[in-house]
Amino acid sequence: MGVPLLDLVAQYQAIKDEVLPALMQVIERQAFIMGPQVGELEAAIAAKYGVAHAIACASGTDAILLPVKALNLQPGDEVIAPSFTFFATAGAIHNGGGTPVFVDIDPTTFCISADAIAAAITPRTKAVVVVHLYGQMADMTRIMAIAERHGLAVIEDGAQAIGARQQMGDEWRAAGTVGTVGTLSFFPSKNLGGWGDGGMMLTNDDTIGTRLKKLRLHGGAKQYHHEEVGTNSRLDTVQAAVLLVKLRHLDAWNVGRRARALRYDAAFATHPAICPPRVAPGNEHIYHQYTIRVDDRDGLKAHLTAKGIGCAVYYPTALHQQPCFEDLGYKLGDLPATEAASRQVISLPIYPELTDAQQDEVVAAVTGYFA
Ligand SMILES: Cc1ncc(COP(=O)(O)O)c(C=O)c1O
Repeated sequence: MGVPLLDLVAQYQAIKDEVLPALMQVIERQAFIMGPQVGELEAAIAAKYGVAHAIACASGTDAILLPVKALNLQPGDEVIAPSFTFFATAGAIHNGGGTPVFVDIDPTTFCISADAIAAAITPRTKAVVVVHLYGQMADMTRIMAIAERHGLAVIEDGAQAIGARQQMGDEWRAAGTVGTVGTLSFFPSKNLGGWGDGGMMLTNDDTIGTRLKKLRLHGGAKQYHHEEVGTNSRLDTVQAAVLLVKLRHLDAWNVGRRARALRYDAAFATHPAICPPRVAPGNEHIYHQYTIRVDDRDGLKAHLTAKGIGCAVYYPTALHQQPCFEDLGYKLGDLPATEAASRQVISLPIYPELTDAQQDEVVAAVTGYFA
């Protein structure tokens, strides 16, 4: 039968009756730029995750770029980041004037390793970009302690982790609300996806919040008055209207993803050739991806594709091995956990609309490969 990697049509069918009237309101009003829905979405997300400022912008990439720009980096200033992530994480550091310093991941969670951050700090280090990969938060308790000791800003790239939580002391903290600035992406395939590009920056710091609002609007708080050079990085009203509807469903969708993950875990737990994803203690994973490790990843990928089972490799080439970063001087072997993950990972279909029958088909195809 085949199973898609993601089924956004099924999601659309489920919310069609809510989302189309919301969209019609935007169309009737014709306020496409910074219409009221943008502020409503910002307020709703700030309240939901307990953060002082939620500032919408044009993409998850800009949501990293603008806070990097707000660091006022000088040539040679370093920003530590994982190499095992989507390109935007490091592209934003480069475009914001910083030099990315790539470090290894914790192989159990796929997220940036706190030990690796500590070992990479130099007098030029100004910040760390932490990525909550696949929907699980990196070890923020240790990372924040290291950052505070060295006076570093922390940008949490939460593009894949909206709604993920971590226990820090007595509190459960949401992804994106712990560091200096947290980011979200509303790329359509994300757990909260728009009908186009979109992103958001979260911060509890009033000064940084004010600065980010300016940077997304050509560097001025007042029209035609520019204190600095910013850019045009607004979220479209149309996207905000779609996202406001979807936000009402997000928690239930994340619960649905978690239930699907538990079913996969049960099916793969004792399989000798499959390493299911692990959730670190004190973490609530939102399974943007369900990513397993296998030795013959490329063989499994070809097998699943031939059977019509959607699958994807995030990410086959780590960032320290990308041609555009060649001049940074990394070589194969520098980041062994990252390089192993790049060879072994494969993500399987996971979404709330996935049926038991579809999931059983995925499991049968995966285990069938090793039979
Ligand atoms: C980890 C990570 N960072 C940043 C981004 C960039 O987000 P966007 O595609 O919205 O620019 C993405 C998603 O695509 C991502 O997965």
